[in-house]
Amino acid sequence: MLRIEQLQVHYQTDRGLFEAVKSLDLEIVEGEFCTFLGPSGCGKTTTLRCIAGLEEPTRGRISINGSDVFNSAAGVNVPTHKRDLGMVFQSYAIWPHMTVHENVAFPLENGKLSRQQIREEVTRALKMVGLGDFAERSATQLSGGQQQRVALARAIVRNGKLLLLDEPLSNLDAKLREQMRQELRELQRTLKTTTIFVTHDQDEALAMSDRVVVMNKGEVIEQGTPLDLYQRPRHLFTARFIGKADVMPCTFISAADGIARVSTPLGEVFSSDPHQLAERAGYVMIRPESVDIHDKDAQGPNSVKARVKSRVFVGEKFEYEFATEAGVTVSAVAPSHMDLATGSEVALQFQPERCVLMERDA
Ligand SMILES: Nc1ncnc2c1ncn2[C@@H]1O[C@H](COP(=O)(O)OP(=O)(O)OP(=O)(O)O)[C@@H](O)[C@H]1O
Ligand SMILES: [Mg+2]
Repeated sequence: MLRIEQLQVHYQTDRGLFEAVKSLDLEIVEGEFCTFLGPSGCGKTTTLRCIAGLEEPTRGRISINGSDVFNSAAGVNVPTHKRDLGMVFQSYAIWPHMTVHENVAFPLENGKLSRQQIREEVTRALKMVGLGDFAERSATQLSGGQQQRVALARAIVRNGKLLLLDEPLSNLDAKLREQMRQELRELQRTLKTTTIFVTHDQDEALAMSDRVVVMNKGEVIEQGTPLDLYQRPRHLFTARFIGKADVMPCTFISAADGIARVSTPLGEVFSSDPHQLAERAGYVMIRPESVDIHDKDAQGPNSVKARVKSRVFVGEKFEYEFATEAGVTVSAVAPSHMDLATGSEVALQFQPERCVLMERDA
């Protein structure tokens, strides 16, 4: 549906040329909810602006439904209003001097629809975002969440081919944000509009997306479903950016029957991670919830003795840090009834299928 090839965006700055987007290739499937996830400044907004036609790339090609909207080689650059998109931007400007209705009607004011048709479309969009009764309100008389919904209604009112959402929930408090996440996802499922959602919030990305594209420093690091990226990241950056993880360097010892033995600062670790060429393993990653906490006398493969180094109670669970005999710190989580005093002795065990191997150059 959307194809981006070799996209480059360079900015001229006081300190010379800055490569905001380095050479980005990406394909987005019809009806998909795809999220760009990455730290501040990694090029998410810039990429989205290029798709929208608000930024002219230095080089590359962008096509929507098979036809080029930008192609540097062929000199094609289709203006924004002809790309058939809906957008919500990071600073979701809604116009304070207009009513809710006027704000949402704005993208339709191009002479193509009658007054009556515009009214019907606006009413439909406002109902979808739960603001059916607010049409005649002045935009200034709305809460932050309601304003965000107006921006969303304005983005969906044209029923465009592509919906571009740049941190559309960023100005909401935690509770409303979570509620809007679900509402937005349901809305997208109803409309079936291909959507690109931008966030630097990993929880949001995991909770909402069909596919997540992890970006850093103007490049795509890797992409996949939320579960794949969380459970089997291929790159160190992803392992550390999405969720918490202990990542240790390792060297390959041997492999047999689908189980690899690697040497780590913790000692020998067995991994049954099926995806990897174990010989090339350079790191092993263990998520805190994959560490089992046992009585100190427990034994078996992948178990080590440790003491509670620190603990934080965060409501439904404890987040523990353990110091192992080998001097390595291991993170683990436990339910709130598993209340271990600092200094207590335990045995930690790592499930082999959750010891994920990553390549040396990950
Ligand atoms: N007009 C510009 N001139 C020079 N540099 C720019 C310009 N616009 C953006 N940049 C730089 O390009 C990089 C990418 O910016 P971009 O806005 O795409 O980041 P982002 O991933 O959206 O970050 P955030 O999560 O903070 O919104 C940043 O380092 C930014 O400083
Ligand atoms: Mg941005």
